[in-house]
Amino acid sequence: MTTARQAPDILSPEFASDPYPAYQVMLADEPLIWHEGMQSYIVSRYEDVARAFREPVFTTDNYDWQLEPVHGRTILQMSGREHSVRRALVAGPFRGSELEQKFRPVIERNARELIDAFRHQGSVDLVQDFARHFPINVIVDMLGLDKSDHERFQRWYTSIIAFLGNLAQDPDIMADGAKTKDELAAYMIPIIQERRENPGDDLLSALCTAEVDGTTMSDEDIKAFVSLLLAAGGETTDKAIASIFRNLLEHPEQLEAVRADRSLIDKAFAETLRYTPPVHMIMRQPADDVELSGGVVPKGSTLTCLIGAANRDPRRFANPDSFDIFRTDLPTETAFSAASKHLSFALGRHFCVGALLARTEVEVGVNMLLDAMPDVRLASDFSPGEQGVFTRGPATLPVLFTPVM
Ligand code: HEM
Repeated sequence: MTTARQAPDILSPEFASDPYPAYQVMLADEPLIWHEGMQSYIVSRYEDVARAFREPVFTTDNYDWQLEPVHGRTILQMSGREHSVRRALVAGPFRGSELEQKFRPVIERNARELIDAFRHQGSVDLVQDFARHFPINVIVDMLGLDKSDHERFQRWYTSIIAFLGNLAQDPDIMADGAKTKDELAAYMIPIIQERRENPGDDLLSALCTAEVDGTTMSDEDIKAFVSLLLAAGGETTDKAIASIFRNLLEHPEQLEAVRADRSLIDKAFAETLRYTPPVHMIMRQPADDVELSGGVVPKGSTLTCLIGAANRDPRRFANPDSFDIFRTDLPTETAFSAASKHLSFALGRHFCVGALLARTEVEVGVNMLLDAMPDVRLASDFSPGEQGVFTRGPATLPVLFTPVM
């Protein structure tokens, strides 16, 4: 007789240190779990997570308590026409010619500035000295805000992400989130008002003047969106850049292939998103009873969708626990669009607005880092690990290289 295995608790230290064995058990034996402490159902299989992202019955009403107290109301909470109009108001600068012509130079400048600070040293921590700063500096620059306030922005986005991932409902994290909301409003509202008077060529001015079908954004709408951008665009891309390097450094033959043919950076990024996603879980709230693998999820309940598990579902990907940038079951052409086969940017109407921005940041950052560090390797005796449960990535990534003269 075989007995179904039980996965370690999602809030346990064992899960936090390595969630992947737990994902394997869930995928095989526990496709639907009720978690008393989180007051949430948990799904892990690709098919269930993809349905939760695509089908409108799975609402995002959970963000009313999960995000609104810290951001205010944002597009993540909206649905139907309200969502499509609001998304159209903000999406333009994150794709096409605006991204390429206006913001690629901002991305290149920020990557160069950070790399110039360590290119002669022969050693660097790629997390602390590059990945943590690069995406947030880019957003702050795109918005036309003052980069000398960088530390404040980083503190705010760390607090927002902690609030979002507060699975155990820690009261200190909740209080810090509320404080962040007030501080960010006090900082942003006067700047928004000033930018309405004197618009420039930056993203904040574009948000102030955007209009779709007679709808414009209030000061409060813009402040809430900026708050969302700091968290959605900072922490995620930070972890993505650290993870692509970690994965390549641990697979030197794939690193060499990427170094020799830079067009492979997209493949390496897509596979990194599948194999080690920056966001491991996203929640939904069904508007009706819904049947998923393993049973019915009742109307109004909270459903936690494990992206990190679904991306390694053997029903969807061959050898899911191997990092292979050449895998044939993850097409690169769709990897940064809503037709993506990995689930790391979600799917459907809330598909990540910043996917192409993240792709450009990774392409520019990885290219410049490889040029500056031709023989980059992990510092001796260092074995890289990951940290985080809701969002996850390497805590530190010390490398050595011969400086280019
Ligand atoms: C590798 C980097 C990134 C990852 C893994 C990521 C992941 C995600 C995911 C999973 C969602 C869906 C949330 C849900 O459906 O509940 C999302 C939505 C979103 N992301 Fe990203 N993101 C990344 C980068 C960015 C960047 C750079 C920006 C912008 C600066 C951004 C802005 C947004 C926004 C505004 C939404 C909300 C879209 C909507 O509700 O319609 N993201 N992202």
